[in-house]
Amino acid sequence: MREQPGQRHSIYHFDNITSAAPDTTRGAEGKMMKDMGKKKKVTAHPGPDEENTGILDFRSVFDSIPGLYIVLFPDKNFTIAWASKHYLAAFGKRMEEVKDRSLKEILNPAGHDYNKQPLLELHNALHWVVKNKQGYMLLQKYNQTKNANGVEELQVRHWEILAAPSFLKNGNVQYLIIRFTDAAAMIRSKEREEKQQQHTRALEELKRENMRRIKESKEQLEVLNVSLGKSIAELELANDELDAFCSSVSHDLHAPLRVISGYVNILLDEHSARLTKDAQKMLDRVFANASAMSRQIDDLLAFSRMGKESIKPAELNMTDIAKKSLGMVLAGKPASIKPRISLDKLLPANADRNMMGHVFTNLLSNAVKYSSKNKHPEIEIKSVALKGRTVYSVKDNGAGFDMKYADRLFGIFQRLHSKEEYEGTGLGLALVKRIITRHGGKVWAKSKPGRGAVFYFSLPASK
Ligand SMILES: Nc1ncnc2c1ncn2[C@@H]1O[C@H](COP(=O)(O)OP(=O)(O)OP(=O)(O)O)[C@@H](O)[C@H]1O
Ligand SMILES: [Mg+2]
Repeated sequence: MREQPGQRHSIYHFDNITSAAPDTTRGAEGKMMKDMGKKKKVTAHPGPDEENTGILDFRSVFDSIPGLYIVLFPDKNFTIAWASKHYLAAFGKRMEEVKDRSLKEILNPAGHDYNKQPLLELHNALHWVVKNKQGYMLLQKYNQTKNANGVEELQVRHWEILAAPSFLKNGNVQYLIIRFTDAAAMIRSKEREEKQQQHTRALEELKRENMRRIKESKEQLEVLNVSLGKSIAELELANDELDAFCSSVSHDLHAPLRVISGYVNILLDEHSARLTKDAQKMLDRVFANASAMSRQIDDLLAFSRMGKESIKPAELNMTDIAKKSLGMVLAGKPASIKPRISLDKLLPANADRNMMGHVFTNLLSNAVKYSSKNKHPEIEIKSVALKGRTVYSVKDNGAGFDMKYADRLFGIFQRLHSKEEYEGTGLGLALVKRIITRHGGKVWAKSKPGRGAVFYFSLPASK
């Protein structure tokens, strides 16, 4: 019991708690107050052992509700009038330790600085409740000392604090009823929710960033595509122009060459009697060179055609094609340079017949040519299936070459041997490469000088 200025407060004045609160219809707190009014009706009749004081009613109501309740006087310090059973149990206190103490003493007994601000906020809120005669709810964080196994331990506790006024008949606030609810779980779920939201936001940000990058890449790709398209168009144009140039030059060159060869022939046939031996020799050289040039032009034309001609794929018996090419290559060759041939049954291919003929003819003519100085020339033609491709090979035991020039072999007019050693224009392998590349395959070679060479080409395996 405690004397307040101008009013005598008593915890036992439960009879005075009325439902005549100024505004009980507003908000959750209002509802709470309304409910409390109702409870008054339920417990308005004191038990037989309680001499009609109302103590049983008041205590039993708050003690039976599973919540941590304290009842405060609406004075300056908010003095504790009473604490519920569950409140005392939760804080390990006896009623005497709580009663008549100020709110500050029980919420911040150790006087932590940390608690000062929330305490001030709570005080302000309670003043507001008293002034406005309405309930109020707030979420607060206090540092509290816990006695765990004899050791003082500081812990942060989150409370949801609900403050509701009870009224005297004249409408003045008589008590403030405070309910503490542990808000840790709520805070945790809030934190979880916040984390989840952060996570979602981060994911969305990532998604946006990815979309932005994709868009950027797409734009870059489009720019690249446009410039690639341009380059391809330019290249095609250049190729076409080159091919047109090649064929027109070839045709144009053929005619004067024919005239040169024709006149040289006439000179040699009909006027040889009047020519000195040296002059005859010179004319022979002119004729040979004109013929070589004519061949070169033919090769260039073939090379140019091979780049333009459309591929007519067919199921090919590659053994037959290799045999035919071999026949052509060896035709007219002196028996002395005819090599020993080993031709396996080759795997079939799906490719252009005419073009594959050119490939074998060029590889075999090289093999024959560059092994012609070997006393026992040998040529081996094979095929093997490898990871969805078929690899064909032509091997000889001829002059070979240095692998450091291996890349050059397949370029136009690239030769590793001199014309004096082995005649040729240096177009054969360039043609092979052009054909095989157009078929989606590859060409490569292995060799050592004086130890022969193997030339390989691969094609997508025929199904
Ligand atoms: N089997 C081989 N052994 C050694 N060197 C080779 C062989 N095949 C090609 N080469 C080298 O590669 C060069 C290019 O070959 P490519 O077939 O393109 O031209 P070429 O045979 O000289 O002339 P062409 O084939 O146009 O008549 C040759 O000059 C030669 O130096
Ligand atoms: Mg060749």
